[in-house]
Amino acid sequence: MVLLVYLAATVLLLLAEASSQLFALAGAVPNIEPRSSNANGPLPGWTLVGCFDDRGASRTLKAQSFVDNVAMTPALCLEFCSNFTFPYGFAGVEFGQQCWCDGVIQLTANLTDSSECNIPCAGDATLNCGGSSRISIYTNGTPSPKLPTVATRPEPAEDAAQVALWQYAGCYSDSASSRTLQRTLSHGVPMDANQCAAACEDAFPNSSELIVSSPSQEATPLFLGVENGGECWCGPSLSESAQRLPDIACESMGCQGVNNQACGGEFIIAVYQFNPLIAIECPDPIPAPFDVPFHLNAVFVDEPTTSVPITMTSAIFHTNDGGTTAAEAGILSVGIMSWS
Ligand SMILES: *[C@@H]1O[C@H](CO)[C@@H](O)[C@H](O)[C@H]1NC(C)=O
Ligand SMILES: *[C@@H]1O[C@H](CO)[C@@H](O)[C@H](O)[C@H]1NC(C)=O
Ligand SMILES: *[C@@H]1O[C@H](CO)[C@@H](O)[C@H](O)[C@H]1NC(C)=O
Repeated sequence: MVLLVYLAATVLLLLAEASSQLFALAGAVPNIEPRSSNANGPLPGWTLVGCFDDRGASRTLKAQSFVDNVAMTPALCLEFCSNFTFPYGFAGVEFGQQCWCDGVIQLTANLTDSSECNIPCAGDATLNCGGSSRISIYTNGTPSPKLPTVATRPEPAEDAAQVALWQYAGCYSDSASSRTLQRTLSHGVPMDANQCAAACEDAFPNSSELIVSSPSQEATPLFLGVENGGECWCGPSLSESAQRLPDIACESMGCQGVNNQACGGEFIIAVYQFNPLIAIECPDPIPAPFDVPFHLNAVFVDEPTTSVPITMTSAIFHTNDGGTTAAEAGILSVGIMSWS
């Protein structure tokens, strides 16, 4: 008999938050200026972070943008960036007429001298709106999108006992000529990591197969990645040309434009690995039918430093055509278990 459990002992412990380094990046505490009496200045709740360089090849803020060569002001830009379903925490004006929004200040940016943001705003010449390749960035303190440490398909597979866990495996570069993960599954419909998990499991049924017939059988690796605010990619290995990036680089864009879950960035992919399984032998015969009481002994692979609840999703006993009874269980926080 084979009992399946999910090797997830550490998952719930690894809640190390991918912390925002935004203000550290900006170098110093942002300059909090007295509220301008000019209504075209920064809106209430927004403060100036500073003047940053910006280049077409490596945008400093890049999730959203618009140009208005007649009416651009800081107020208009901050309103634009606040207008999305989940508003962006950073907004910046540039070259007198451009407005850019993002959940983070991209790592490629450098803080420059404030005197370099010296081009009058198209909509109010008494105010400056960035400079030439220089962007004046404001923040309202909205948290950046956050990377979930695990992903699971939104609705369970047919067998409700089978809850696969995908564990965050890092933030990587991607390129059009050498894809980090080979297969795209979104086909124009933006997905978050959970929806991508379902699509990837369905696209690679063998690799994501949960029933392991023998304990020695090794699970085939499988990875998924979310990118560019909702592209879903999937495959058995990462391209060798992919570069590991800081986690914060994958917190540039919220999934489907909603910033409560990060979905990578432009050619930046947040990668999750399908969780390997442990299969162990059960005593034979196992108690059946299901209503026979049983006792679960759990042993942590990595001893938790604090108490961690053990969540059992379900357990199912079933008989296959050969008359053999098999047991399956879905456990969300235990590495090894045994029957007694
Ligand atoms: C920031 O400075 C580095 C080092 O000088 C440079 O390579 C990079 O292009 C600069 N970033 C921008 C957005 O200009
Ligand atoms: C923000 O949304 C409001 C309400 O829909 C709209 O009237 C306004 O024009 C929008 N502002 C910008 C800058 O897009
Ligand atoms: C998946 O597994 C089935 C059954 O073992 C096998 O026939 C099939 O070739 C496998 N498919 C792939 C793509 O490996």
